[in-house]
Amino acid sequence: MEYTNKNFPPLKNDRLLKAACGIEVDKVPVWVMRQAGRYLPEFQAVRAQHDFFTVCRTPELACEVTLQPLRRYEHLDASIIFSDILVIPQALGMTVEMHPGVGPVFPEPLKDISEIDNLKEDGAVSRLTYVGDAITLTRHKIEGKVPLIGFTGAPFTLMGYMIEGGGSKTMSKTKDWLEKYPKDVHRLLSLLTRVIIDYLVMQVESGAQLLQVFESSADHLSREQFIEFSVPYLKDIRNGIKAKLEEKQLDQVPMTIFAKGGGHSLDIQAEMGYETIGLDWTVDPVEARKIVGNNITLQGNLDPQDLYKTPEEIKKLTIDMVQKFGKHRYIANLGHGITPQTPLESMTVFTESVHEVV
Ligand code: CP3
Repeated sequence: MEYTNKNFPPLKNDRLLKAACGIEVDKVPVWVMRQAGRYLPEFQAVRAQHDFFTVCRTPELACEVTLQPLRRYEHLDASIIFSDILVIPQALGMTVEMHPGVGPVFPEPLKDISEIDNLKEDGAVSRLTYVGDAITLTRHKIEGKVPLIGFTGAPFTLMGYMIEGGGSKTMSKTKDWLEKYPKDVHRLLSLLTRVIIDYLVMQVESGAQLLQVFESSADHLSREQFIEFSVPYLKDIRNGIKAKLEEKQLDQVPMTIFAKGGGHSLDIQAEMGYETIGLDWTVDPVEARKIVGNNITLQGNLDPQDLYKTPEEIKKLTIDMVQKFGKHRYIANLGHGITPQTPLESMTVFTESVHEVV
């Protein structure tokens, strides 16, 4: 059979998509951010043979590691395509390396606002077709078992990595830019927004069934800064996707915004047009529901560190969490990515416990 984006196997488990769109479900859907990753020995085995970005760029490898957690954990209700948010800066012409034990490193980060002009916006999405190819291949190989999530980094989070040259505890350089060069910062955020919209549309054309936007560095922003440097772009992305899918006569897909540390702005996030808001573990489920109202799905939010507790404790914490959120308009997840040393059994207990709640 030829693997095209037209002849996908039918979807057998649509809990995730139903919950995202506010339709009743038999069981609460569950998936885990970073579910394909270093806590899995089978992922480590692939990484021992191939560089991180080689895995991202090789559809067969990206597909294989996307499927790994599904083989091990029968209760997972979704898959997320294996890639990274930093493929966008790469497509804009920047070099990004993944250093074991360190994380992403940009040997030449943006040092001056004049360097914004060196970014290669033209053709950026055409340099990311390998992500689309990985999505199309995975939609076939997954045989309709669960839906496939596509994703991107949000403009502010991507800009932060491009300026800092990697992860940063303080984001001091980025904050300096916000302070000194707000006009140029907005120019860069707009550029990233344009690329992100076309990139996500390409992911949907390739077979992505839900899109998640990671604003992982929102925890560095005050409510005021979030309103100025994140919200307008997140809204443009949501509206841009809707308009372009309509223009191309493609089916609409639900979208999730995960702004880590954005608990101070849930009222604003609820007005951005996203079907689902992802929560980190600092947010109380009952308070969050009060703020966002009943027309939004919530996703989250067990502390990833809780997966280091005993199976009995994990089960209790998970069931408590699901009961607080309630069964309607809810997707169970962690409050951030699963960490590398997490015991394999903890994932079994977490995912199984979610489905036990009736
Ligand atoms: O969720 C999944 O299973 C899909 C794959 C995925 C990866 N990165 C693979 C990865 C996703 C959705 C991401 C998103 C991502 N990447 C984010 C947003 C989510 C978040 O955690 O806040 C961010 C900030 C990045 C940038 C990035 N990539 C960092 C900071 C690091 C190093 C630290 C870490 O958590 O691992 C990476 C590396 C990375 N991305 C790994 C994986 C499996 C591990 C690298 C390795 O294999 O050596």
